[in-house]
Amino acid sequence: MVVTTASDGTTPRDGWSSRSAFVLAAVGAAVGLGNLVRFPAEAANNGGGAFVLFYVACIVLIGLPVLLSETLIGRHGQASAVESMKRLAAESNASKWWGGIAGLGVAAAFMILAFYCVIGGWVLYYIGLFAADIVQSGISGGALTGMSAEDIKAIFPDLLNNGFTMSVLDVAFVVITVMFVARGVSGGIEKASVWLMPAFFMLLLGITIYGAFTGAFSEAVGYLFTFDASKLTGPVMLAAVGQAFFSLSLGVAGMMTYGSYVGRDVNLAKTSATIAFADTSVALIAGLCIFPIVLAAGLSSDGGLGLMFDTLPHAFQSMPFGTLIGLAFFVMVGFAALTSSISLMEVPTAWAIDKFGLRRAPTAISIAVAAAVLGILSAYSFNALSGFHPLGFIPLFEGEGIFSALDSVTAKLFMPIGALLVSIFVGWIAERRLIDNENGLSGGLHRFWLFLVRWLCPLALTGILIVGIFPSLLPA
Ligand code: PFF
Repeated sequence: MVVTTASDGTTPRDGWSSRSAFVLAAVGAAVGLGNLVRFPAEAANNGGGAFVLFYVACIVLIGLPVLLSETLIGRHGQASAVESMKRLAAESNASKWWGGIAGLGVAAAFMILAFYCVIGGWVLYYIGLFAADIVQSGISGGALTGMSAEDIKAIFPDLLNNGFTMSVLDVAFVVITVMFVARGVSGGIEKASVWLMPAFFMLLLGITIYGAFTGAFSEAVGYLFTFDASKLTGPVMLAAVGQAFFSLSLGVAGMMTYGSYVGRDVNLAKTSATIAFADTSVALIAGLCIFPIVLAAGLSSDGGLGLMFDTLPHAFQSMPFGTLIGLAFFVMVGFAALTSSISLMEVPTAWAIDKFGLRRAPTAISIAVAAAVLGILSAYSFNALSGFHPLGFIPLFEGEGIFSALDSVTAKLFMPIGALLVSIFVGWIAERRLIDNENGLSGGLHRFWLFLVRWLCPLALTGILIVGIFPSLLPA
């Protein structure tokens, strides 16, 4: 176990064994279903190049400053997110209630964990589907041979109708996740990132190169990057900012928690920039990985989850070595989803360990059980519980089942509120000297970062929050 010392110089804590371990773990947290499913679909549906450019601007000008703010709060506190916020607030003579921001984040991370593992379960299902296909028909032909177009189209809706299968898969994904979290930071979480992230990158590059040779690569480049400024409407901009925050895992105390395991010698500014760069590159490469395959099969991109779970399996059917590529693709998605779900589970686990002085393994297992229960309810919200709308009394969440309500509440409220309050806290409340000691910046860059955290981030995040709650305020 790697040990770092808390800022009060007392409690020894488990931590990352090196800077690169932290980078891999944080990139693992950031790179996930958001990069592979949501980014390509949103980019394609929201005007390609204009969306992509605006997205990158959001990452640099809003996402990166908040990412640095979150990691520095964690590193300074050397404790769970709530405790770290409280410590920095106390040292800055501010109210200890600021710890509540991180408390919101802990709740949000738990809610995301619950529905994220349901999707992780779907990924397991598709891994099984393609693996069985290889056993049956070998690797040389296209995927899912012998299935008609209708049969393939029915796979995903059939899965969504089957609450029991989804529940079993959800539990399986939660169990895989907790096996790493229960083993601790250096002994479990770090091990997962150090093995899975390089494997993920190799699979991503391999499949992208395959798509470049066998798929419609130049068409895909045109599709994703053609710049049409007229497409940059209010809703498109809102989608880009929301996606940037989700993709960098901000506003849910995840990066605070991971930051708390970082040693004092690490330059947080450089490290945050590396994390944001890697996350954005993966999102862009994911677009270049998926669309050549989809477009070559003459399919169109329908948005959201359908792109991955409906359109792609269809496309793999007509590709050379489609079964093998299909299997490699879903294994890659599984790796990315797992390193993200590990980070999501770590947030409430670290909080409960700190708050109640509990041991890690039983704490992680209890949180896993709670997440599995909520996940199972989410799985049934596609079928038996589809008529149950837990937040139906709030107009913003009207008609949403459990799965979709968890997604909306966290994306529209918890994440922007969390990130907004973090930027206000770091920009205005926390003692300057403490922040300056941690952030690894100097000179003009330091002043620019401070400007972004003090002004641009709070303004942009307030805007996102308001139009997220009152979408009708957005000009179309
Ligand atoms: N960033 C992850 C993705 O893009 O899929 C999702 C996520 C993971 C959000 C961890 C928040 C978090 F704490």
